[in-house]
Amino acid sequence: MRKLSLSHLFSVKQVVSFLPIRKEEVSRMIEEMTKTSDSSGLINVSRAAFLLTNRIICRAGFGKKYDEMGKKRFDEVFEEAQVTGTAFFLGDYFPLLGWIDKFTGMHSRLEKNFRELDNIYQQLIDDHLDPNRPESMNGDILDLMIKLKQDQTAAVQIDWDNIKGILMNVLIAGTDTISSLIAWGMTALIKKPQEMKKAQEEVWNVIGNKGVVDEDDIKNLPYLKAVTKETLRMFPPTPLSVPRESTQHCTIDGYDIPPKTMMYVNIYAIGLDPEYWENPTEFMPERFLNSTIDYKGHDYGLIPFGSGRRGCPGMNIGVATFELALANLLYSFEWELPNGMKEEDVDMEESTGLTTHKKTDLFLVGKRYKYN
Ligand code: HEM
Repeated sequence: MRKLSLSHLFSVKQVVSFLPIRKEEVSRMIEEMTKTSDSSGLINVSRAAFLLTNRIICRAGFGKKYDEMGKKRFDEVFEEAQVTGTAFFLGDYFPLLGWIDKFTGMHSRLEKNFRELDNIYQQLIDDHLDPNRPESMNGDILDLMIKLKQDQTAAVQIDWDNIKGILMNVLIAGTDTISSLIAWGMTALIKKPQEMKKAQEEVWNVIGNKGVVDEDDIKNLPYLKAVTKETLRMFPPTPLSVPRESTQHCTIDGYDIPPKTMMYVNIYAIGLDPEYWENPTEFMPERFLNSTIDYKGHDYGLIPFGSGRRGCPGMNIGVATFELALANLLYSFEWELPNGMKEEDVDMEESTGLTTHKKTDLFLVGKRYKYN
């Protein structure tokens, strides 16, 4: 399944094919922010990031606009999935005591949530099988999966449950992670005016009066790329990775780990390890300017996307979306804290869940930058 997904759904070709969607949706975000900045000036950066990633994933994933998804139901069901997906189930740790989860009500809550999710996926599949479906569904991730299912010569035969499983992964893993990273990146920069200035001057100097930052321009923005790495180091969207189960017996640091043990990799602690990083709690993108350390899973001090055979397949989409969004935010506006607020007043508290969001939304004053 994984090989199939990597070669068909998350390939470089696929990342490129969704480029027009990323570009359009980032422009739409900037336009919407410009309108707000003209009227009140106060922009909810967290909400804008949330809408951006949902819109991109809905269009790339199943050819639908986020606004057509029956938003309230969609948002509620996915919010609940974040809760049930990370809730404590005694049976996960002590299988013989699993019956207690039934009494706490968690079991039926999980079942209910999964039935609702299943209905959403079934509806999306039915929409795709409809001969009169809109053109926007041609070539989206669900369309590609349906084609793979119909291909009798494919190396792996997939069924509808497999397809629903991948849809779930794409939706949950693809939206929340990127939007959390955008909000944390902007939070970190607003708290460090010198670093914000460097990042903005770089993008203004390199892009000039072109009007927009394109994905092709990003390679010419080394400081922005360093900001990406530093944000991923300090604010990995999934700080405990995703739960994994060991397949065979192994020994780590003298501890015996039996097969079928549930494990969490503390990505967050690794990124802040003082034995690996100098001033680990300081947001300093400079540390990456003359360094070959990367987030791709080979440098074990920085593994925001995990590592090895189960590492994140959406890394390229994630980084491309984050960098395009951040570059355009920095290019289009001069950013300030709301009236009277100081850098140290910015709330850094995190919410709970598989993905760690900033607990309170980030509100900033954005003044449209005049590059002409
Ligand atoms: C900044 C963005 C993202 C971050 C930081 C991130 C991080 C992660 C991490 C840490 C894992 C677990 C890796 C491991 O166990 O070694 C993971 C798994 C996964 N991610 Fe991402 N992710 C991001 C974006 C995405 C996107 C955009 C998608 C899809 C469109 C995606 C799809 C997946 C899937 C399907 C898995 C499960 C892979 C498996 O179990 O084999 N991720 N991600």
